[in-house]
Amino acid sequence: MRYFISDYSQGAHPDILKALVETNFEHTDGYGMDRHCENAASMIKQLIGKPDANIHFLVGGTPANVITIAATLRPYECVIAPHTSHIYMHETGAVEATGHKIYALDTEDGKLRPDMIQGVLDEFEDEHMTLPKYVYISNTTELGTIYKKAELEALSKFCKNNDLYLYMDGARLGSALTSPENDLSIQDIANLVDAFYIGGTKNGILFGEALIILNDEINDHFRFYMKQNLGLLAKGRLLGVQFGALLNGGEDSLLFKIAAHENDLAEKLRNGISDLGYDFLSDSCTNQVFPILPKSKIEKLHDEEFLFESWSAVENPDDFAVRFVTGWGTSDDDINALLAALK
Ligand SMILES: Cc1ncc(COP(=O)(O)O)c(C=O)c1O
Repeated sequence: MRYFISDYSQGAHPDILKALVETNFEHTDGYGMDRHCENAASMIKQLIGKPDANIHFLVGGTPANVITIAATLRPYECVIAPHTSHIYMHETGAVEATGHKIYALDTEDGKLRPDMIQGVLDEFEDEHMTLPKYVYISNTTELGTIYKKAELEALSKFCKNNDLYLYMDGARLGSALTSPENDLSIQDIANLVDAFYIGGTKNGILFGEALIILNDEINDHFRFYMKQNLGLLAKGRLLGVQFGALLNGGEDSLLFKIAAHENDLAEKLRNGISDLGYDFLSDSCTNQVFPILPKSKIEKLHDEEFLFESWSAVENPDDFAVRFVTGWGTSDDDINALLAALK
């Protein structure tokens, strides 16, 4: 079997496991109050150049999204997000279950732009409607595209001018930042959004996301909200140890090495598929590849024991868009085998 289903289908990078084993016999405080969480939090503050940032470690992307959004909003406030976004499409209505409507906007490439958000603001009338307050984006997007610096600057400016919080879901932030097309630094992101997270689960650790809150309004009593909403892990040190190992070395850390590895292999796959004459559903420049393949070919690949997701129907009923994802453990051999099968 060759797995291209996701970037979290294997366990953890050996360096992460090593750090967990080395610290295993230590006794520490619980709930993220231990020295490992403190150490990982200072690494993040240094990396983003914000000594006063608030750092919280959570076990997964859904809790990070739901808790950050719901902790911030008043009961009558709502969220604006792309139609393809994870919070709208793939979190079982977890945000809506906290009582907050999501305005899902159609996009061509998974990215929000100020004029789209303006459309929602234009429709807003009064207290008979939910009040737009929160803008959710992800980088990479669900379609593997990334925000360019000018695009994020424009969004940030628009949100500030319109009293909206801007939040970036960074489940695949490493992949976004190491994309050859990226011109945005993690420091830029910290300057432009109110909160974002560095994804660990899809970047080589067992589980965990590092949430960075830059706006103190969002951070108000945040740990109370985390605890009440099942987001505070008793053995929080597991997150601190893993992020410590992932971020050690800052810009040269394992986070960026793993992400670059994922991107390199995805690029090789994308070029190989393109050379075979196939089109793509999206202009992804990161570790997700979305080719449009004949259904007969897809069946054949499954028979030959390649695992990947069928993503979406396309105009031609004989074709279908699929998704191949590369992870920390994907090898060159995996890519060669997939390209050979596609040929
Ligand atoms: C962009 C994005 N955000 C959040 C999540 C949710 O993460 P989890 O499954 O850990 O809750 C995912 C998972 O696929 C994702 O792709």
